Amino acid sequence: MNSQDMIDACKKHTLFSWSARGKVVPMPITRAEGIYLYGPDGERWIDFNSQLMSVNIGHSHPKVVGAIKKAADELIYAFPGSATPARAELSTKLAGLLPGDLNTFFFTLGGAEANENAIKLARLYTGKFKILSRYRSYHGATNACMQLTGDPRRWANEPGSPGFVKVMDPWPYNYSFGDNDAEIVKNNLTYLEEVIQYEGPDTIAAMFIETVTGTNGILPPPVGYLEGLKALLDKYGILLVCDEVMAGFGRTGKLFAFQHSDIVPDMVCMAKGLTSSYVPLGAVAMRDDIAKHFDDNVFWGGLTYNAHPFSCAVAIATIDALLDDGMVENAARLEPIMRQHMAALKTKHPSVKTHRNIGLFGMVDLQKDTVGTPMAPYNGSHPAMGEFNQFLKENGLFTFCRWGSFMCNPPLCITDEQLAESFAIIDKALEITDKVVAG
Ligand SMILES: Cc1ncc(COP(=O)(O)O)c(C=O)c1O
Repeated sequence: MNSQDMIDACKKHTLFSWSARGKVVPMPITRAEGIYLYGPDGERWIDFNSQLMSVNIGHSHPKVVGAIKKAADELIYAFPGSATPARAELSTKLAGLLPGDLNTFFFTLGGAEANENAIKLARLYTGKFKILSRYRSYHGATNACMQLTGDPRRWANEPGSPGFVKVMDPWPYNYSFGDNDAEIVKNNLTYLEEVIQYEGPDTIAAMFIETVTGTNGILPPPVGYLEGLKALLDKYGILLVCDEVMAGFGRTGKLFAFQHSDIVPDMVCMAKGLTSSYVPLGAVAMRDDIAKHFDDNVFWGGLTYNAHPFSCAVAIATIDALLDDGMVENAARLEPIMRQHMAALKTKHPSVKTHRNIGLFGMVDLQKDTVGTPMAPYNGSHPAMGEFNQFLKENGLFTFCRWGSFMCNPPLCITDEQLAESFAIIDKALEITDKVVAG
């Protein structure tokens, strides 16, 4: 099949996420290796978003491909009530890698299922019902996760199940809680404590946060926020659940993003990087006290694919590849280099407003004038963003543009040279958005 035949068949017979089918322009991908994607007609793109911020080790890692073949020969599926070598090895490995007493795991197929089950665990363990989360967040597309989610993808899915309360992030879209991190943390947590009082501390089971906010802005928490938040939630017996579906597995230059702070969350949800998306797998990690509760109390949850042996085997190989190849360290090493590339773009291009990155988790915000008006408003678009994205694709770079910003989330195996090559393409593309500022 050539590109067009493939696109036509996919559009005719399938629906695409978060899109009207008539408007979707799918990328024709037939092969991928390292940081590169290939199309059927000889196209090649740098994958500057690791697909869905998830192929952390890069595409087609030979050791993981080898492990997939081996796992297929050994044990592909066993029912969730069984003990398997892969389930035993993966859970033991994760317990060793996660800090503190995060020693017990419930395996799912993806991120939303991990969050869904973390909601159940929190409610069953605390005996409380309400769940707090933040407006600038995405937690998955299942029913409860849509209500956890703060961003506009929630709107069309309302009304949903009750009991979900949204609060402001430390970084609201259009104003600030203060001028420096200490002030922002203090003001945001004062406001949060007031919300807890209004909602009733005895009714709130947990608060979910993306440790580093992903699609809603690549926003690392202000210094001291995680420590302050954990202490505040502890005061009221509210569990802290860190959703590390996107930020986990080396993306931020640490294995888990919360490891940039001093806290141990009560639960950690993971997926994407756990298998680098080679096969579907998610997990909820929980602390010993929570796990112990379920020694005598039934966990009222289950999945046909819980602890899927094939997926667990692939996760073991993926984690080995990530660690053995030093990719977490590579993400940390390249953090200042990515920042330099971004700063150079800002110096040169009037349409670059701000930029930020932690590890290889980055975003550049564009403006349409010199006083900082976003190129596109919250949940809005601008024709120049479409043109900018089109230019990137035509010149060999795939990434996500969202509203007035674009993502910089390459696989963690990227080299200095490949990073420079990527930013050179972006540099050219920004001439399109600069024209908007020029008027
Ligand atoms: C932070 C976060 N949580 C949860 C999810 C949902 O994961 P999945 O799409 O695997 O269900 C995502 C997906 O992008 C995510 O970024």
